[in-house]
Amino acid sequence: MKRIFTSETVSKVGETVKVAGWIHARRDMGKIMFFDLRDKDSLLQIVGVPADLGEEATSIAQTLRPEWVVEIEGIVQARGEKQINSNLATGTVELLAKSIKVLNEAKTPPFEVDKDTMTINEELRLKYRYLDLRTERMQRNIRMRDKIITFFREYMHANGFVEIETPILMKGTPEGSREYIVPSRLHEGKFYVLPQSPQQFKQLSMVAGFERYFQIARCFRDEDQRGDRQPEFTQLDYEMSFVTQEDILEYTEEMFLELVKKLFPDKTLTSNPFTRLTHAEAMEKYGTDKPDLRENKDDPNELAFCWILDFPMFEKNEEGKIDAVHHPFCSVKEEDKEKLMNGEDLFSIRANAYDLVLNGFELSSGSIRIHERDMQKRIFDLLEIGEAEQQAKFGHILEAFEYGAPPHGGFAPGIDRIVMIMAGEPNIREVIAYPKDGSARDLMMDAPSALPEKTLKEVHIKIDK
Ligand code: AMO
Repeated sequence: MKRIFTSETVSKVGETVKVAGWIHARRDMGKIMFFDLRDKDSLLQIVGVPADLGEEATSIAQTLRPEWVVEIEGIVQARGEKQINSNLATGTVELLAKSIKVLNEAKTPPFEVDKDTMTINEELRLKYRYLDLRTERMQRNIRMRDKIITFFREYMHANGFVEIETPILMKGTPEGSREYIVPSRLHEGKFYVLPQSPQQFKQLSMVAGFERYFQIARCFRDEDQRGDRQPEFTQLDYEMSFVTQEDILEYTEEMFLELVKKLFPDKTLTSNPFTRLTHAEAMEKYGTDKPDLRENKDDPNELAFCWILDFPMFEKNEEGKIDAVHHPFCSVKEEDKEKLMNGEDLFSIRANAYDLVLNGFELSSGSIRIHERDMQKRIFDLLEIGEAEQQAKFGHILEAFEYGAPPHGGFAPGIDRIVMIMAGEPNIREVIAYPKDGSARDLMMDAPSALPEKTLKEVHIKIDK
């Protein structure tokens, strides 16, 4: 007999079926045994009556413990009016077991997986992540993440975007964070870095004529961890040619409104259309460029989207040197171009750069980019990147801009933060299947870890202890 899912049993009253999954819980009432069987869809109540099971299956049933993996054949029965459980997808039926096969036994888990694990020590949860992921809340979060990603993919495709996979092994993009480095075996003393974002590749894809690119893109940043930061995370990265800033804001706003309408109809929007503030206004009014504009911060269903526009192009870094606020590829406002060319009053120059903020979290950054070589060089010059360094680091971009680069711009909402807010979770680790801990370790696999000397030698690395 072919195995069916628990969710399919509701339409099979009176039929003999085979289900499989994990023993979620058991309750014995005298001789009759009740089990909750869990599979990917739901729980299903299994009733074990010795008279129906026969001797052998009864003795198997008596040994069953939570988290054992079993296959059960039986007859689907309708539950009596009073026994209906409206909280359960299979709440109108139960399975009267006829035979039981144990597919695998299980040790007692280090924490109970039939309860929410939020209060369990997080190190333990991360070490046994595959058990933590069995819990209802974690299953719901990871499945919600899949739905959100699927929505974005379909929305992008419906609007003429093409998904392009860009390299993971690349040469650095300067976006302000420290990069993860990967030693090369074939090229002694040389290194790849992992992308902080596909920024340069998406711009080069505009030069390549794709016009509308997107990617569910994994990004890597070797920075200090916080609740809304992980060393690797995922962006909905996109870029468009021949667009204005307004086009990108409009496209993005419509997409998020559609996401809420389609997947989260119970959520309410504080402002529709989204609030718009300039960076200067946000700083003056709220003292932050990530204001939380919810009216009731205790309402888990309130969404307050807010655009922050006209970011400054430059800022002073900790060493007192000049840095790009977003990244060096942003174009500057037409009205501020003269100052840029004259090198005057640099910190007052505004970029065509914008952020989307949701409930006090930065969801995304983006900008209209520079597409002319001379302008890009001017920015590198002002950022005090010398000629040789410009050539070594960005020669390819500067050269590409000489081959008919169209005007372009884009955006990159962080998927982890979106799912975190939609799921009402306090940090992004709750919505990432296999996250790193607060000090960037994978506690389940024990990474990072030492490597044998032979492996290091192959990549020409000697550890200086
Ligand atoms: P930015 O660096 O602002 O822009 O990143 C865009 C969005 O990515 C998410 N994000 C993160 N999420 C989790 N953990 C992290 N460590 C982390 N860092 C960033 C945030 C953030 O708003 N290339 C540009 C985008 C562009 O200009 O198109 C970029 O990466 O949600």
